[in-house]
Amino acid sequence: MEIVDIHLDSVDSTQTYAKEHRKEFDSDKITCISAEEQTKGKGRFTRKWISPKGGNLYVTFYFQLPAQSLHLSSLGQILVLSVTKLFIKENLCPKIKWPNDVLLGGKKVAGILCEMEFEEDVAHVFLGIGINVNMEEGILHSIDQPATSLSVSTGKKWDTKTLLKDLQKQFLKDFDIFCKEGFTPFHCQFENLMAYKGEPVTCYDGQKEWKGICHSLCNDGQLNIYLPNGDIKTLSSGDIHFKIK
Ligand code: BTN
Repeated sequence: MEIVDIHLDSVDSTQTYAKEHRKEFDSDKITCISAEEQTKGKGRFTRKWISPKGGNLYVTFYFQLPAQSLHLSSLGQILVLSVTKLFIKENLCPKIKWPNDVLLGGKKVAGILCEMEFEEDVAHVFLGIGINVNMEEGILHSIDQPATSLSVSTGKKWDTKTLLKDLQKQFLKDFDIFCKEGFTPFHCQFENLMAYKGEPVTCYDGQKEWKGICHSLCNDGQLNIYLPNGDIKTLSSGDIHFKIK
C-alpha cells in the first residue's frame, strides 16, 4: 500500500485531525499525519501525551480495513514491533510493555494509541504513535511515569524525518504481512521482546484488577496472566492498564 504524507506545524492532536478530516483522505492509501507539536496530545485511557516542539515524533496513520479483518485489535502491537525493529537496527535493546509501550532501559520512550470507528463493514483505523526522540531530561521528568528519549538514552541527536521515513518503510512491510495473516507471524517476535515475562504484574480491565504472573502471549496478541488460584486469565489489548505489581 502507498503512504500519503501530511505534515503540520502545530495541531491539537494528530488523532483528532485525522478523525475530522478522514473523509478527505484516499480510502485505498495510508494517510500519515505528523506534526511538529501537539497542543492537546492524547494518550491511552484519557491521559495526556506531552508533545512540545523540538524534534519528537507525533504521528497518526489513518487507513481503512474490512471490519471483519483478523486480529484487528492487535494493530497497535504490529506498530510497536515495527518501532522495536528500527531501534534494534540502531543497536538499542528495546522491550515491549504489553500491549504497546516501548521501553529503553526500563523507561517509556514510545506509546501507541489505536482508535477505530466502525461504519457498516469498514473499520476506520487511527493508529497514533508518539516517540520521545530529542526530548530533554527536564521535560521527561514532568511525565507521570518513568520516561526517556532516544537522545537521552544514546547521547546523540536524532533526525526525526529520517526516523519517520524508516518507520513508514518498516510499518508498510509489517502491515502487509498483518493484512494477509493477522498477528500470528508476529507472535514469537513480540513474546521475545516482552518485558516482565515471568514476573508479578497487575492488569486493570476497567472493572477489576487482575494480579498474577505475566505468563505468555496468545497467537492473536492477547496476554495470559497466571492467577494465584492456578487459573489463566486472558486479557485483550483493547482495554487494559498494565503495571508491575
Ligand atoms: C500512550 O502511550 O498513552 C499512547 C500515546 C500516543 C501518543 C500519540 S502522539 C501522536 C498521536 N496523537 C495523539 O494525540 N496521540 C497519539
